[in-house]
Amino acid sequence: MDKLVIQGRHRLSGTVKASGSKNSALPLMAAALLCSTGEIKLSRIPDLKDVRTLSKLLGYLGAETSYRENTLNISTSNIRCAQAPYELVKQMRASIYVLGPLLAKFGRASVSLPGGCAFGPRPIDLHLMAMEKLGASVSIEKGFIEARTKGTCLKGAAIDFPITSVGATGNALMAAVLAKGRTIIRNAAVEPEIATLCRFLNAMGADIRGIGTESLEIEGVETLNAAEFTNIFDRIEAATLLTAGAITGSAITVTDVDPSQLITVLGKFEEAGCKIVTDTGSITLQSPDALVRSDVIANPYPLFPTDMQAQWIALMTQAEGASHVIDKIYHERFNHIPELNRLGAHIEIRDNEATVHGPRKLTGTKVMSTDLRASASLVLAGLVAEGVTEVLRIYHLDRGYECIEQKLNDLGAAITRESYQEFL
Ligand code: EPU
Repeated sequence: MDKLVIQGRHRLSGTVKASGSKNSALPLMAAALLCSTGEIKLSRIPDLKDVRTLSKLLGYLGAETSYRENTLNISTSNIRCAQAPYELVKQMRASIYVLGPLLAKFGRASVSLPGGCAFGPRPIDLHLMAMEKLGASVSIEKGFIEARTKGTCLKGAAIDFPITSVGATGNALMAAVLAKGRTIIRNAAVEPEIATLCRFLNAMGADIRGIGTESLEIEGVETLNAAEFTNIFDRIEAATLLTAGAITGSAITVTDVDPSQLITVLGKFEEAGCKIVTDTGSITLQSPDALVRSDVIANPYPLFPTDMQAQWIALMTQAEGASHVIDKIYHERFNHIPELNRLGAHIEIRDNEATVHGPRKLTGTKVMSTDLRASASLVLAGLVAEGVTEVLRIYHLDRGYECIEQKLNDLGAAITRESYQEFL
């Protein structure tokens, strides 16, 4: 296994490029299943474990994929199977994104239930509800979602989501684009990753209106064809890099971004005392002499993202005062707290609210976590901790951050990747 060994307390400076978005790349790749002819070309696809897992799943289904320099070519004209096996789905919950496209294109789909999640319950009832609304029969058999169209194809319908779900909106969209007639999705997720999926589907020939709003209108079409498409930047990676600047008292610039997608997070950096300057495609953060507390509540876009909650808690360990961090999306997503406390933080947790007492001097030791963003928060804490922090099991980090140690080292951090053996 690999670990990151971080020599803390180095100032960062300079410029770093944001990678392509993981959470946008995955639905784009699944949408390729809808294509009838030709080869899809997706650029700005990050080189990440999750991307490789979904490529493997597409390959298992019969697709041909080739990946070079962040460009992924996918040909799905020889799909021979509509079953997503447990071995691949359990590695990545986002594999459920193949449900909608397989059902729409082949009239049936068999997708393993994803199993447990490191940060509490993550139901998929809304994905199934959307498929049923579109006219599929759905059952759970032997740990698999078994979905079939009742007639020859799915039928347009009104889908009202009781709560906003990124994944269920994506699946509903990918099923509805080939359904007969009109589908209206209400309370749709408005995350940039969903708007990007809509744009890609339209580039393939779909007819989706209301992009970026909570009400999406889809007029079903007969077929979708190959398209070339460029993925958006990873707003969570960019915000994590900015946090690295803020936690180390540094000034850094992140380029290749769209600052408008990070308005809430940037406002929070300002509230914490950082100076933020945005330009077309770049964000510069200048840390203050002393950070001050800034409370956040994680909620759907455009509010503060749950995927930045763990990193924000790491930052608040260095801020003056008691900050309150509430996660309204995943109430149990707090794996990082005991580990941050082992580094010397003073964080209390009650229900879905963390209280971070700062500033605290952190001291390096061995830490590990069981999910991606929690691991990112430990790396950030390691950057400011005295001495050496070892972040173990970084395969979690590799799921979602492209060349993270290289990017941070280019800014002046001192991080090495080493392999180690765990005692079992
Ligand atoms: N929910 C349900 N039923 C469902 C689906 C979701 O109750 O059928 C609930 C969830 O339990 C949660 C809320 O709805 O409380 C929102 O979940 P959502 O469906 O929006 O999450 P997701 O699509 O499973 C994506 C990202 C997550 C990110 C969330 C929230 C991908 C691949 N994953 O998950 O990203 O935290 O949206 O923004 O896009 C990460 O990148 O670290 C990550 C976990």
